[in-house]
Amino acid sequence: MKPRRVCDNVYLIGAVDWDRRLFDSLIPLPHGTSYNAYFVAGSEKNALLDTVDPSRIGTLMAQLDELPAPDYLVVHHVEQDHSGCLPELLQRCPDLTVICSEKARSMLVEHLHVDDARFRVVADGDTLSLGDKTLTFLSTPWVHWPETMCTWLEEDRLLFSCDFFGSHFATNDVFADKHQVYDGAKRYYAEIMMPFATQVLKNVEKVAAYPIRAICPSHGPVYDEPAFIIEAYRDWAGGEPQNIVCLPFVSMHGSTLLMVDHLTAALTDRGVAVERFDLTTMDAGEVASSLVHAGTVVIGTPTVLTGPHPLAMYAAVLANALRPRAKYATVIGSYGWGGKTVETLVGQMAKLKLEYLDPVLVKGLPRAEDYARLDALADTIAEKHEDLAPRNFADLTVCRTDH
Ligand code: FEO
Repeated sequence: MKPRRVCDNVYLIGAVDWDRRLFDSLIPLPHGTSYNAYFVAGSEKNALLDTVDPSRIGTLMAQLDELPAPDYLVVHHVEQDHSGCLPELLQRCPDLTVICSEKARSMLVEHLHVDDARFRVVADGDTLSLGDKTLTFLSTPWVHWPETMCTWLEEDRLLFSCDFFGSHFATNDVFADKHQVYDGAKRYYAEIMMPFATQVLKNVEKVAAYPIRAICPSHGPVYDEPAFIIEAYRDWAGGEPQNIVCLPFVSMHGSTLLMVDHLTAALTDRGVAVERFDLTTMDAGEVASSLVHAGTVVIGTPTVLTGPHPLAMYAAVLANALRPRAKYATVIGSYGWGGKTVETLVGQMAKLKLEYLDPVLVKGLPRAEDYARLDALADTIAEKHEDLAPRNFADLTVCRTDH
């Protein structure tokens, strides 16, 4: 694929990884991904912004063959899917200067053994002139590592944001169709940005102060309707929990499934939205996405030996790591003869500030009185959710900024 034009003398380069189905050996990629680099050609100097995953270095090098030699390489983020080609690139371009934050410099030296002499460290607000184009570096820590920064290209009003605002979405379109990319961008936020929601929100407001014409992330397409993704981030990082129960579950012999089915119906009857996920076939990204707005998390699990099913443990570990803003949680499920299922799951979610509702654990097949306990749980959840925001689907009518 040849360099693709974003605007005059600004190109999207990098690789579309159509077939990749797992990221970090963890995150499912139903729509593949891309590793975007950008090339800014100034009247005096040229800058390459980020590189690509090392598995696609050949694609990057072939595209660079079609462009003038870069004088600068801006590294927004040290994670290897953007920086992993540095050693080869620095060999190819012996005069190339690496522009990055101080934290990124030390990390690149440690992680990739980059020669300290190749760096020019920049601080928040520093500028770099390429002649007729000016780059301004904006410190945006914790989107999603501590060293992360963005670049503002003043003359073209482009924001280069690396992972921030990104999406795992393979496409050869340069610009995003917001209806097509929304779910992927939300999943991406949930998977890696949600644990840092407070910092993310600060950074959203910091960059939103600029008159952005387009946001150029390092995964997924470019947003030429930047207000759409900015408003989405405000909602995801700053919105209130909604009237939604996220219900990941696993059942071995069907008893827990009977309980999950009953609770799902009972919550539905009471006007509570349920997003349920069979953990034997779940996509962790969908569970993460549900956690963005869920007011309550209910984990359904049988007891295996003396504790929760390992897949239920995985759901608890995931929730604990992602730090959603859910307010309530509980456990339902069936057991054979005993165990410490509830205590073990609660212990796995120690980082979350949750109010735990009474669990419903049943020996063997549920009886009428057990279904009554599930009805009572549904009553409690519906009552608690009266204070939450209603379920609110994305408003995709947000279009262009007025700048
Ligand atoms: Fe796309 Fe944090 O790397």
